[in-house]
Amino acid sequence: MKIAIIGAGNVGGTLGAAWAQKAGHEILFGVRNPTAEKTVALLSKIGGKARAVTPAEAAASGDFIVLTTPWPQAEAAIRSLGNVNGKIILDATNPLAMGPDGLSLEIGHSISAGEKVQNWAAGASVFKTLNTTGFGNMADPVFDGVKSVMFVAGDDAANKPKVIELVSSLGFDVIDAGPLRNARLLEAHAMLWIELSLKRGLGPDWAFARLKR
Ligand SMILES: NC(=O)c1ccc[n+]([C@@H]2O[C@H](COP(=O)([O-])OP(=O)(O)OC[C@H]3O[C@@H](n4cnc5c(N)ncnc54)[C@H](OP(=O)(O)O)[C@@H]3O)[C@@H](O)[C@H]2O)c1
Repeated sequence: MKIAIIGAGNVGGTLGAAWAQKAGHEILFGVRNPTAEKTVALLSKIGGKARAVTPAEAAASGDFIVLTTPWPQAEAAIRSLGNVNGKIILDATNPLAMGPDGLSLEIGHSISAGEKVQNWAAGASVFKTLNTTGFGNMADPVFDGVKSVMFVAGDDAANKPKVIELVSSLGFDVIDAGPLRNARLLEAHAMLWIELSLKRGLGPDWAFARLKR
């Protein structure tokens, strides 16, 4: 599979390395400056399965597009992709903003980042996923043999199994979390992980998992 990853920072770089090295996928990083020193260093770390191109070039040939920009840049990033009609987009963003109590969600009760991305990406199928844990856990989602959980929310039932398979290939226990409007729940769930990690002493090396009777 060819995976276009828009942004090559903590999340994008980690996902690109994991998909290339664990699952043998071809990675196209869609970045604003494909020859930037940090991007060249990332490519050499990953090896021959990854290239850096413009966001529009990456999106045009990716079987999947994964959005990994900060929230304030998400709309511009989506618009820079050009025509995404028929494309599958995995949205990993969280709509974070600095509020009076520190980092918090900018939106959430009546709309989510996932739904906004869908509005900007006309004709694409947007799935909310890969937003509810830290990037370190995306590199290594298994804790003492137990898979940590990752959710996928989206409205396109026909393409959802492909997205679940792609996310599962990272090593997550993937749960179908229903329609895209449930991105509102997943973004709040991400905020809980962030709060516990940054403010409540848990740090980045823990994750949510599923227990079932
Ligand atoms: N960090 C985490 O553990 C984590 C976990 C889950 C979800 N998230 C979410 O994932 C997103 C990314 O987080 P991060 O920590 O990876 O951020 P980051 O390290 O700052 O990386 C962001 C990347 O986006 C790129 N970018 C910005 N605007 C762009 C545009 N218009 N087109 C293409 N690329 C663009 C940046 O490239 P430049 O070099 O050009 O600026 C950079 O490579 C955020 O929405 C965050 O809330 C983060």
